[in-house]
Amino acid sequence: MHYDMPPMRPVNRTPGNEAPISSAIDDPIIEFQQVTYSVKGRTAPLISQLSLAVNSRETLVLLGRSGSGKTTLLRLINRMLVPSSGEVVVEGKSTVNWDAIRLRRHIGYVIQEAGLFPHFTVAENVGLVPKLEKWDPARIEKRTDELLKIVGLDPKEFASRRPAQLSGGQRQRVGVARALGADPSILLMDEPFGALDPVTRSELQREFSALAQRLGKTIVFVTHDLREALLLASRIVLLQNGRIVASAEPQEFLRIDHPEVKAFSATLHGVPGAPA
Ligand SMILES: Nc1ncnc2c1ncn2[C@@H]1O[C@H](COP(=O)(O)OP(=O)(O)OP(=O)(O)O)[C@@H](O)[C@H]1O
Ligand SMILES: [Mg+2]
Repeated sequence: MHYDMPPMRPVNRTPGNEAPISSAIDDPIIEFQQVTYSVKGRTAPLISQLSLAVNSRETLVLLGRSGSGKTTLLRLINRMLVPSSGEVVVEGKSTVNWDAIRLRRHIGYVIQEAGLFPHFTVAENVGLVPKLEKWDPARIEKRTDELLKIVGLDPKEFASRRPAQLSGGQRQRVGVARALGADPSILLMDEPFGALDPVTRSELQREFSALAQRLGKTIVFVTHDLREALLLASRIVLLQNGRIVASAEPQEFLRIDHPEVKAFSATLHGVPGAPA
């Protein structure tokens, strides 16, 4: 690791009181503790009394309709926002006790439309955090090449292009490569495939799903697309008006008896002429 990050919290285990093996896996890396986030001039908080533990190496998908608070929740994790009350704990430390810059470099963030710097080349975009972290240039170049290959872009062809010389899907790939730059253990992804055509989108979803499993990162992935959630999630958390209304593994999710779950499930059916 290239950071002076705090060590993972040890699992409490005392002789004669063996914790189940799963508790080591379930040790949360991100934890929302009774978090409320309000802004002036709005009566209802954007996030209300929300508690949620994200376990190490899971792909947690935040599902919810537009305005339900998904982006707000992500921004509370990397301290772009701080709770009005309650705490967000990342790797054992409340975000308000993290140095904000360090925390953000420590967490990869992919936003919709990739958010690349237009005047930087692909390689400069991907190597951004390593450069800020003062890696030596040879190491940055090696890492950049490696990351471009991981996301399926040939460095020889793409490293020196600028974002404007890429397709939307290629820009998204660069966005993912950049978020992986300094090998963060946590990745936040805000509708990263939202703006793509359906075919490219499903291609990237499949590749990403395989990549996520291989890299062993903790991923919080935002979408309003139930299909995408079912494909990528190890757990789906459904938000409505800044509250969690359902949380389950994909196989279980569709069986939950809640009107908002049913509203989302309804989006899976009923395309006339489509195979069942
Ligand atoms: N700074 C702000 N001041 C007032 N209201 C805000 C502010 N930021 C967000 N909101 C409101 O908070 C709610 C949640 O916003 P958020 O961006 O988290 O939604 P979202 O679930 O990401 O939606 P989308 O799917 O459209 O991206 C929305 O109603 C939004 O208008
Ligand atoms: Mg959003």
